[in-house]
Amino acid sequence: MKIHSLIRTITDNNVQFAFVLDLVAGNFSYDGTNGPSHWGKEHKMCLGKYQSPIDIEEKDVTTMTFPELQFSGIEGSHKAYMTNNGHTVMIQSFDSNVPSISGGSLNGTYVFQQLHFHWGQNDNLGSEDLINNHSFSMELHVVFWKKEYDSYEEAIKRNDGLTVLGYLYQAMDEPNPIFESIVQQMPDIIGVGSNVTISDNNVLKKLVAPDIASAQNYFTYSGSLTTPPCLEIVQWIDFVKPQHISHEQLAAFRSIQSTDGTNLTHNFRPVQPLDGRTVYRNIAGVESSTISPVSKQTPSTASIPASSPAKKPPETANNDVTESPMDDNKNGENSASSMWAVSPFAVILGVTFLLPYQ
Ligand SMILES: *[C@@H]1O[C@H](CO)[C@@H](O)[C@H](O)[C@H]1NC(C)=O
Ligand SMILES: *[C@@H]1O[C@H](CO)[C@@H](O)[C@H](O)[C@H]1NC(C)=O
Ligand SMILES: *[C@@H]1O[C@H](CO)[C@@H](O)[C@H](O)[C@H]1NC(C)=O
Ligand SMILES: *[C@@H]1O[C@H](CO)[C@@H](O)[C@H](O)[C@H]1NC(C)=O
Ligand SMILES: *[C@@H]1O[C@H](CO)[C@@H](O)[C@H](O)[C@H]1NC(C)=O
Ligand SMILES: [Zn+2]
Repeated sequence: MKIHSLIRTITDNNVQFAFVLDLVAGNFSYDGTNGPSHWGKEHKMCLGKYQSPIDIEEKDVTTMTFPELQFSGIEGSHKAYMTNNGHTVMIQSFDSNVPSISGGSLNGTYVFQQLHFHWGQNDNLGSEDLINNHSFSMELHVVFWKKEYDSYEEAIKRNDGLTVLGYLYQAMDEPNPIFESIVQQMPDIIGVGSNVTISDNNVLKKLVAPDIASAQNYFTYSGSLTTPPCLEIVQWIDFVKPQHISHEQLAAFRSIQSTDGTNLTHNFRPVQPLDGRTVYRNIAGVESSTISPVSKQTPSTASIPASSPAKKPPETANNDVTESPMDDNKNGENSASSMWAVSPFAVILGVTFLLPYQ
């Protein structure tokens, strides 16, 4: 609120305005001289070797069975705020019972910090991660910090400080009820720095854990923040199954203003080189209503296999990967049936019948 009113009082002075925004969230943008290809000038890490997003090629992933990915603090309602930070629509909660996650490719417990969205100038693009070079219309990022480091600010100084859940959305005719309150309140956050309480107290749980049934079906790899300062401290968990949003609901996101005063019509970073990194796909719980033996693994085996390369910092991931017994699994590549091999029409049709997790 303080920053918001500060911005409001000095909008008549463009120089100071830009300066204050720089303090708020950086002066980067998605076009022109502050666009993605220029981020590296101010933020050297944006030129790093292990950046995000990436194109995930299904034929190149290494299948893997991780312990069950576990969600806590999902049930119950959360008071949540929605902000236009000039780069995206961001949702936060300051409740004591915010969600946390553990298991999967993670070493430790990670606590919810914020979630936000990436979209494109039209419905054919907008996701940051690509699957088999295919863009989706929107991507949700749910950002968590490692609890052991006590705060987000401390966690981002560590190379395993953050994990981000990535959810893909495909635009269709059918509205997604999850976005009802967000879209309805979007007019209240048109201006940069504005901030509202979301009327739906269940919005956080519906976004963070939309579909427990497909929550074990994900890709995971080591990468970076997709905005400056592009820190290479993120274990990415990208869920395979896309959800849907209507064309109209998605259009509401494009109506908010960006730091340069124009409408924020798009805010996705182009894909970055994989550069030898391994992308894993968890094979537990692949689109199956029957519980497979792998997904029965007791989560209480809190000791994650020490050999898990996916959670190692990027610096070591390359050198150490050959020591991993998981290389045995490479023979199992592509053993899981591919939903991406079917026609786009079939995928869209499939998306139509997704039910939001209640
Ligand atoms: C941000 O502002 C600084 C100084 O005003 C400028 O040098 C830089 O190129 C700008 N852009 C980015 C993306 O940081
Ligand atoms: C992905 O598409 C781009 C063009 O959009 C192309 O340059 C690139 O080679 C493609 N990558 C793969 C792995 O097919
Ligand atoms: C939004 O408002 C709430 C309540 O005043 C505040 O705690 C939070 O810090 C604000 N968020 C931002 C990003 O300004
Ligand atoms: C920008 O968004 C506003 C709604 O916030 C809308 O009324 C306006 O038409 C949009 N401008 C352009 C150029 O699309
Ligand atoms: C897991 O994290 C702890 C604390 O950060 C660290 O001491 C330990 O070495 C990590 N384990 C592995 C297998 O990376
Ligand atoms: Zn993001």
